[in-house]
Amino acid sequence: MIKYFTHQEVLALRRMRERFLAGTAGAQDYWQRPDDIALYDTTFAERIGWKWDGVLAELHVRAWQPQSRHVLDWGCGSGVAGRRVLAQWPHLESLALHDRSPLAMRFATEKARADFPGIHLAALESPLPPDTLLVLSHVISELSAPALDQLLSVAREAREIIWVEAGTHVDSRRLISVRETLRGRFSAVAPCTHQHACGLLAGKNAQHWCHHFARSPSEIFQNARWMDFGRELGIDLRSLPYSFLVLERPRPIPMRDGFSHIIGEPREGNGHLKVLSCHSDGVAELMLQKRDAAALYRVLRKGDGPPVHRWELTNGKITGSAE
Ligand SMILES: C[S@@+](CC[C@H](N)C(=O)[O-])C[C@H]1O[C@@H](n2cnc3c(N)ncnc32)[C@H](O)[C@@H]1O
Repeated sequence: MIKYFTHQEVLALRRMRERFLAGTAGAQDYWQRPDDIALYDTTFAERIGWKWDGVLAELHVRAWQPQSRHVLDWGCGSGVAGRRVLAQWPHLESLALHDRSPLAMRFATEKARADFPGIHLAALESPLPPDTLLVLSHVISELSAPALDQLLSVAREAREIIWVEAGTHVDSRRLISVRETLRGRFSAVAPCTHQHACGLLAGKNAQHWCHHFARSPSEIFQNARWMDFGRELGIDLRSLPYSFLVLERPRPIPMRDGFSHIIGEPREGNGHLKVLSCHSDGVAELMLQKRDAAALYRVLRKGDGPPVHRWELTNGKITGSAE
């Protein structure tokens, strides 16, 4: 059987995995050899990249994209997260990389420069440029409580945040507490369907955690190197659980189609009102005849009623309003 990894590489990969699983990776900088980070990039980081593909596909379905022009990949390791978002959103102009490991920073910088020659590689600024997308990937298990607090101070300065973690109970629960901490300042974009406290915080849901499964590309199951990797590390290559959180600074709530706003006040004529109405098509003066909608006529004449209307129009005249 052909071996795709040397004995030294297998040992290095096993060491990495044990550290990640034991939760001891935060103790000190573990990137000591350039070969290790390169090996990480084509193995563990590649799998993390497939999780990012899952997250970015969901954001695409939700028709969401960052408004930011700058990216900060914090705890970048070999830099897979930053590269994934640059590939997804070509409007992004610059990438800043940050890691406690100088070796990781160097590797990530060189790789980003090679893959995205048009991107400006920026230094980490404090405070962050106001239109910064902060990306975080598989860091939470390595941060002590004070280190996480420090990171959250940086996160508060970002415009948008995409945070992807291993889909374990403990990491998902940490991410949920991050969401609760940042909820006042940011709106939840995904995976949440609402802006309230996370429903998993209810006592009855304590055993659950917010996780999802990404797809490994089907080609890897015909790829002998990946098969060798799975065998040597005892990893089921089909299983790619992850947790994630996407936040953004609240944007003005987009108005749904069909709403109109009255400019100023309606002007009363003989048995009718003239309403200057602003809607997505523009601004137009519309007539409301008392005989067509007497109740609405009374409400508008008194200046009562909701701030926006959805006019029912007949022959260009207002005949009702569905609030
Ligand atoms: C598991 S690796 C993940 C790397 C990369 N984000 C990814 O998804 O492949 C965690 C990274 O966080 C970095 N890290 C850990 N603690 C850190 C800290 N306090 N400040 C900055 N980087 C840190 C480590 O050096 C390591 O590169």
